[in-house]
Amino acid sequence: MKVGILGGGQLGRMLLQAAANYDVTTFVLENDAHCPAAHLCHHFTLGSIQDFETVYQFGKNLDALTIEIESVNVDALEKLENEGVKIYPTPAAIRIIKNKVLQKQFYKDNEIPTSAFHITAHQSDLLQHLPFLPAVHKLGEGGYDGKGVQMIQSEKDIESGFNAPAVLEKKVAIEKEIALIVGMNNEGKTIIYPPAEMIFDTVYNLLDYQLSPAKLDEKQLWKAQAIARKVVMNLKSPGLFAIELFIDKSGEVLVNETAPRVHNSGHHTIEANYSSQYDMLWRIILNYPLGNTNEILPSAIVNIIGAEGYTGDVVYEGLDEVLKMDNVFVHLYGKKQTKPGRKMGHVTIISSDYQDLTHKANKIKHTLKVITTKP
Ligand SMILES: Nc1ncnc2c1ncn2[C@@H]1O[C@H](COP(=O)(O)OP(=O)(O)O)[C@@H](O)[C@H]1O
Ligand SMILES: [Mg+2]
Repeated sequence: MKVGILGGGQLGRMLLQAAANYDVTTFVLENDAHCPAAHLCHHFTLGSIQDFETVYQFGKNLDALTIEIESVNVDALEKLENEGVKIYPTPAAIRIIKNKVLQKQFYKDNEIPTSAFHITAHQSDLLQHLPFLPAVHKLGEGGYDGKGVQMIQSEKDIESGFNAPAVLEKKVAIEKEIALIVGMNNEGKTIIYPPAEMIFDTVYNLLDYQLSPAKLDEKQLWKAQAIARKVVMNLKSPGLFAIELFIDKSGEVLVNETAPRVHNSGHHTIEANYSSQYDMLWRIILNYPLGNTNEILPSAIVNIIGAEGYTGDVVYEGLDEVLKMDNVFVHLYGKKQTKPGRKMGHVTIISSDYQDLTHKANKIKHTLKVITTKP
């Protein structure tokens, strides 16, 4: 089979690492010839994943296509689908998910628990919802990695709201943030991975590290699994999805958002689960039997992020020390240039002991620094 991936970032790169095990010829479309996935595919095409004609020409001689980012030209994918190219997930599912307004409406229409919301078109619309605050304003399209999400605590924050189609969500009193990965094959059979739990840095409110399986009571786990499956069943699309959920202070489980693709919350599945999320997506696309999602051992992920104050040719300080640690797996994404906050890689730790995971995660965070050759 000839399979194309729209996007050439780290998710595409890890998807290609898994593809090397199977009988598949891979194609990547990305507008950067030095992107993380460029040299791991059989055929690389330089071009924009947002341009109709580029995506159509890239896909028209392929058997199947998948995405590693949502900001793709869905009209081109729809035309390709009509001409018989299999798209994972379906263009209809991508269309819903890539727009946070449509996505929220989808949860409501399908009675999937999610925080209450109002749809807004202009920043000034927020003035009509003062009694609804505190809330979170989310840009309909174009946001990524926290850009496109604004906390609106009170009236004085309205000036930081979006002056474009957006959704205003009730602020959830979050106890825990978790993510579940669900896969669905062409026969509609689903699999689900153990949940991952995001551990936040309370000072900077940044993702600190991630633990899997999340520590949940049985009832919360059942609820989370049922909700995550329901999202995918209602999207009615084969593919792999990550469902981000909140558990609030009263124990309610609510959907935050869905990603229609392999996800950063599933990096650990490469070492920690029998079939990784990347392996699973290939099984789905190639019509192979689905894999085993069980964890081999609990795990943690530490993201390797460009340090503040460093922009330029990358250097990984402390890498040898991390590589010397037991049961620790380093993944560098091959990006030549770093800048503050850029995702440069991740480290997975596996251990039967959660304390060991936490201890090593903290040690790695303090040891490994992404800096530059010249200050
Ligand atoms: N309704 C909400 N209530 C409280 N916090 C929220 C809410 N929505 C989002 N957040 C916080 O903002 C983060 C980013 O929001 P999210 O919608 O996941 O955007 P992104 O696309 O950047 O991942 C979440 O992980 C969560 O910590
Ligand atoms: Mg998110």
